[in-house]
Amino acid sequence: MTDKNKTEQLKAIRDELLELKSSPLYEYRKSNGYFPVAGQGSHNAHIMFIGEAPGRNEAQTGRPFCGAAGKLLDKLLESVEIKREDVYITNIVKDRPPENRDPMPEEIELYAPFLDRQIEIIKPLIIATLGRFSMEYIMKRFGLEIKIKPISQIHGQSFESPKEIDGKKIIIIPLYHPAAAIYNQELKKTLFEDFKILEKYK
Ligand code: URA
Repeated sequence: MTDKNKTEQLKAIRDELLELKSSPLYEYRKSNGYFPVAGQGSHNAHIMFIGEAPGRNEAQTGRPFCGAAGKLLDKLLESVEIKREDVYITNIVKDRPPENRDPMPEEIELYAPFLDRQIEIIKPLIIATLGRFSMEYIMKRFGLEIKIKPISQIHGQSFESPKEIDGKKIIIIPLYHPAAAIYNQELKKTLFEDFKILEKYK
């Protein structure tokens, strides 16, 4: 796929999200003047980060991870000398849930096909999930269902997916969500440690 095709297909996803009136989060988006958050970064990224859902800052700007959790994500990337513009960052749910509540199963189900398409277009070699919602979805999606355990037991490990994208096996790395680590020094330390696994894939 050429870069131009990739850009067009990713733009089509953004346009469809803007029109997604069937979403239970659509009214909340409209009444607050929010935007859906499709994703941001390199269309040829080797590494794709998948968070949970946009927070207020993200919904106001349409950009993923641009609030407090995003600032920590920036520091984590910096610590392993990975440039934010070289990776692709997105979420499993593309609209902000009210008051940042956990995404509902039906919201994940509705938005997941958009994420699947983004993965299919970008073709990352590594998918780093941020938090348990994207971890569970992505591990199931890529045939790693039996390896799913609580995130406290498998964070920072790498799992080779039995399913391939274009003949290439992809690596799934579950990580804690940066938002959980903002006020938790222990978790923050763990997250910085876990990020080091990405150094060999950049
Ligand atoms: N938390 C997420 O999961 N995603 C964002 O984009 C911001 C905060």
